[in-house]
Amino acid sequence: MAVKLVAKPGEVEFPKGMEGVIASESKKSYVNGLEGKLYYEGIKIEDLAENSTFEETFFLLLYDRLPTADELEILRRRMVQYRTLPTEVYNLIETVSAGYLAQPMAVMRTAVSMTALFDEAAEEETELAYEREAIKITSRMATIVAAIDRVRRGLPILQPRADLSHAANFLYMMTGEEPDPFYAKVMDVILITHADHGCNASTFTSIVVASTLADMYSAVVGGISSLKGQLHGGANQRVMRMLDEIGSVENAIPWLEDAVAKRKKIMGFGHRVYKAMDPRAIILHEYAKEVTKRAGTERYLEMAEVIEKFMIEKLGRKGIWPNVDFFSGVVMSSMGIDSDLFTPIFAVSRVAGWTSHILEQHTDNRIYRPRFVYVGPATQEYVPMDKR
Ligand SMILES: CC(C)(COP(=O)(O)OP(=O)(O)OC[C@H]1O[C@@H](n2cnc3c(N)ncnc32)[C@H](O)[C@@H]1OP(=O)(O)O)[C@@H](O)C(=O)NCCC(=O)NCCS
Repeated sequence: MAVKLVAKPGEVEFPKGMEGVIASESKKSYVNGLEGKLYYEGIKIEDLAENSTFEETFFLLLYDRLPTADELEILRRRMVQYRTLPTEVYNLIETVSAGYLAQPMAVMRTAVSMTALFDEAAEEETELAYEREAIKITSRMATIVAAIDRVRRGLPILQPRADLSHAANFLYMMTGEEPDPFYAKVMDVILITHADHGCNASTFTSIVVASTLADMYSAVVGGISSLKGQLHGGANQRVMRMLDEIGSVENAIPWLEDAVAKRKKIMGFGHRVYKAMDPRAIILHEYAKEVTKRAGTERYLEMAEVIEKFMIEKLGRKGIWPNVDFFSGVVMSSMGIDSDLFTPIFAVSRVAGWTSHILEQHTDNRIYRPRFVYVGPATQEYVPMDKR
């Protein structure tokens, strides 16, 4: 049946927000929303969180298989090689981040875009170059976030350490101290659990950009821009804002009752695909127990658990469950990380998924070019300015 492309508003039915629409084939990850399961390349997220590292998970997503020890070491070294940013990008971060002037996601978006201007290989159109850019950008995103954090706190930017893992070096570049192995593991888990998630908005954005055969940086900047919104990656930061607004365990239920009665969206809940518990929320909830105990921030976890219980009882049957953003905020804030860095850290991880999907898109590319149903005015004459 031919689709009607010119119609009255509301006349043609279509899945708003492209719900359920298949955009493409992909080998990268599978979200089983009804059973609350997530797999990268067929491997359960729980197994990866427990046993893998960000570098290994990145290899898995890039090349569709687990690496040998030698292959992992080669990727690790390549990532280390690219950790430092061009001087001009450090200067940009120093100029705009001092005094908490600019929003970190906006700084990151600009810093990645600016890095392209100082990368001679940025416009090279070979698969080898695209792969190299994928590794380079993924490595550098962590350096960008750490530099933003240091500058805002009035501290000198630190050079990366080649002997540390991606997660440990990231924490080192923020704090200036080699992290306790437990916190390095927690950061690895955060990075592993956020690395990919099917055809989410930011991944879709980056493959749409890539489908025009634009360069890797442009596609990643598209992903960052899409992740920035509060309905996507921006939700984790708003979870902490909500917990601060609620203020105490005692106030949680009255606050929620009022919010639900007013049909407000509760941040960190609900998902287009999951109609059950997000497995990443379960993993991060477990880590939140130990992290809050060590940091003495059990109050946040207690509040979060009361909210979780209330929401599941009230809205679980409607398919609204905690998502990854609900406990990640509690974990990161208890590690002393500012809440407006949560979304940039999500990007430090998700760039692994974006770049892997971009390379996959190139293997069988066709430009994305859907249609709109035209619901505007019928054909009409152009009216000159003096006759309007
Ligand atoms: C994730 C999200 C954007 C998915 O959006 P979506 O698939 O378009 O779902 P909708 O926004 O259409 O929501 C469907 C229904 O569930 C309700 N709902 C969805 N998320 C909700 C939430 N967090 N709190 C309360 N109600 C929620 C909507 O109000 C709507 O109810 P209605 O059918 O009675 O109008 C949405 O759940 C949301 O905004 N969550 C909060 C932000 C968040 O945590 N984002 C991170 C996702 S990982």
